[in-house]
Amino acid sequence: MKGLILAGGHGTRLRPLTFTGNKHMLPIANQPILFYGLKQFARAGIRDVAVILGPIHEEIRESVGDGSAFGLRVQYITQGEPKGLAHAVLCAREFLGEDSFVMYLGDNLLQEGVEQFLEIARTQRPDAVVGVTAVDRPSQFGIVEMAGGRIVSIEEKPATPKSRLALIGVYLFTPKIHEIIAHLAPSARGELEITEAIWKLVEGGGRVVPHPVTGWWKDTGRPEDLLEANELVLRTMPPDGFVRLGSVARGAAVTGPLGLGPGSVVEETVEITGPVVIGSGVRVGPGSRIGPGTAIGNGVTLLNAQVRRSIVMDGSQLEGPIRIANSLIGRNVRISSRHDGANELELTLGDSASLKL
Ligand code: TTP
Repeated sequence: MKGLILAGGHGTRLRPLTFTGNKHMLPIANQPILFYGLKQFARAGIRDVAVILGPIHEEIRESVGDGSAFGLRVQYITQGEPKGLAHAVLCAREFLGEDSFVMYLGDNLLQEGVEQFLEIARTQRPDAVVGVTAVDRPSQFGIVEMAGGRIVSIEEKPATPKSRLALIGVYLFTPKIHEIIAHLAPSARGELEITEAIWKLVEGGGRVVPHPVTGWWKDTGRPEDLLEANELVLRTMPPDGFVRLGSVARGAAVTGPLGLGPGSVVEETVEITGPVVIGSGVRVGPGSRIGPGTAIGNGVTLLNAQVRRSIVMDGSQLEGPIRIANSLIGRNVRISSRHDGANELELTLGDSASLKL
């Protein structure tokens, strides 16, 4: 069994957050999104993994390397222009050979991991296993219609959805899929669609098993998804995920789980209500309050700043009095405020933004 993780794509839905670099490296609970999928492959015993890369990829190669830090053997395949999920499989044809493989969209987070997919493949020997879950906005997903336990239609982003059952971004395929993909034509949006390949597999008599995922699943395509994913990961993180290496002043009040990286200091009068993670070399200065569902990256400075349910990325500085919530603060952002901090602000700021209030 091999692993294929997709980290190319356009990332247009994240454009409001003018971040630099690859969207799969954006932090969720202080870890790049991509690492979650890689770790789940490792946990399921998959060793050989290819990462599909788009035009922006240096950061991924640098931080994932040969994959040994994850217990994986990682190779990179350049897709270049993102011409669709099935096109990514086509690019990986040589790497995949005659093995079955789990394909994982690199911007997805799946609480339960991929073991169940492997278990279904082992016990039921289908031609494919597709993760599914009920969603609120079916017209934005690949939608599966079921009848009598069988898939009777699959449509990509249908205008009038026949069900609420969406394909999540995790699939298991046998090599049968390659023959189908080799004959796919680009869709109306110019992509080779994996949903069409799966439907053709069903039409041709192939057995595709839908696997309803348990636990949460999150596609991190939009800025607000990042905040929700961050909160979900923090709220469901096991206690040993919160390691306290930095120092907390005696006059600070901490309740709930707190992860604090090396060299970080939580000073007098600070209040922290977990779950919260704080990276290394962070200063949380007097008057600051950090509320649940917040992740603070490395080298951040907070002075008299109140932050709840937010992501503050590496190197940013917030000098209050200021109160923010549900905010995405990019890397190396500077915010300073002379106001009284009475109003709670919701900010989405790209890398290196500067704000004087
Ligand atoms: P999508 O979210 O479908 O598309 P996108 O990343 O291009 O973003 P947007 O819709 O905001 O423009 O992609 C799902 C995942 O698959 C994501 O992790 C990127 C990856 N991907 C590729 O690697 N190659 C591709 O050709 C496409 C379309 C996506």
